[in-house]
Amino acid sequence: MALHSRICEIFNIRYPIVLAGMGGASVPRLAAAVSNAGGLGILGAAACSPDELRAWIREVRSLTDKPFGVDTLLPASVRREVVDAGDATVDSGRPSPKELLGDCQAFAADFMRQEGLERVARPRDDAAAARGPAFFSKEFFEAQMEVVVEEKVPVYAAGLGNPGPWMARLRENGTKIMAVIGSVKHALQVAASGIDVVVAQGHDGGGHNSPIGTMALIPQVVDAMAGRIPVLGAGGITDGRGVAAAMMLGAEGAWVGTAFLATEEAGIQQFQKEVLVEYGDGDTMVSKSVTGKPARIIRNKWAQAWIDADKQPLPMPFQSMVAGPVLAAATDARRKDIAPGFAGQGMGLIKAIRPARDVLEGLVAGAEAALAGGERFR
Ligand SMILES: Cc1cc2nc3c(=O)[nH]c(=O)nc-3n(C[C@H](O)[C@H](O)[C@H](O)COP(=O)(O)O)c2cc1C
Repeated sequence: MALHSRICEIFNIRYPIVLAGMGGASVPRLAAAVSNAGGLGILGAAACSPDELRAWIREVRSLTDKPFGVDTLLPASVRREVVDAGDATVDSGRPSPKELLGDCQAFAADFMRQEGLERVARPRDDAAAARGPAFFSKEFFEAQMEVVVEEKVPVYAAGLGNPGPWMARLRENGTKIMAVIGSVKHALQVAASGIDVVVAQGHDGGGHNSPIGTMALIPQVVDAMAGRIPVLGAGGITDGRGVAAAMMLGAEGAWVGTAFLATEEAGIQQFQKEVLVEYGDGDTMVSKSVTGKPARIIRNKWAQAWIDADKQPLPMPFQSMVAGPVLAAATDARRKDIAPGFAGQGMGLIKAIRPARDVLEGLVAGAEAALAGGERFR
């Protein structure tokens, strides 16, 4: 039995398995490896400057002649200018994120001192990057979208928010469009924009995630889409059994992140890949300490410091200005205890760092076996 669904026709791919757009991890060589193996590779371009994004698209095109996609974030909260200015809470009488920024940066500086971390130069701190739009600002996200349109990418995925404002221009290029959602309400909003595929990502998943568990979310989103828009299941799908389960819940394939993190091609550091092999099911937590939105990360001292201090992280985009220098320094120092990265709850299923093709083929073979094995319950 060959794993197949409408997803294969929509994206012109062999298997309905999509590499999740993972910032910094789903780099050109990983996306190309997944596409070359018959899945769909998606670039995790959320943190790319517009110039970097263009270079990534061109690199992936040099590595594969198969379809691929680009994932960026379109958070509604940031795109509303009033929040962008950081003054949103002024009227409420509470200090605004901008007013709290200095205090939070001082907290981060204390943390770095206690942990013996030295500030490191980051690519986005250099002069060329400084001339571009501010990181994670409204202008930053919009400038990325200009590149996505200009480069006529085969597939675009909105990791957060609604791609509605760009639909007409993307459609003109023949780009297929998907959106990652975590609730029925948000699924209905993106469906109304006319997207091609919905990704229902539940609480189990790595990175920004939903309060609703994957097992409960998928069938509710499938029902809400009523067969009109195919759904990819996501969140905690880390082997073929998970792919099969998502398909039994009505999804037509899977959007897989964590399983592809422990691959030779993933863009994360070697020490972070080792963490994925060493740590287990209970070693993740949901925290706003990295981006300002709830995200599933591997347990670490930076997230714990906010809990211990009973301190609220700032909303996106301000928290990344606070966390960025800390995590860059901890990554440079290969600190597993501070910068292990994001991962989903399926991390305990990862036993080795493998080529991406092996992971893709394992997901397909495991799903086919699990689906065929369903007969034994009849
Ligand atoms: C390391 C990492 C980085 C991520 N970065 C992004 C991102 O930049 N954009 C996005 O839409 N989702 C991001 N996510 C979420 C993934 O797209 C995906 O929904 C999630 O990994 C699925 O759950 P799983 O990790 O259990 O497979 C990230 C996830 C991980 C693990």
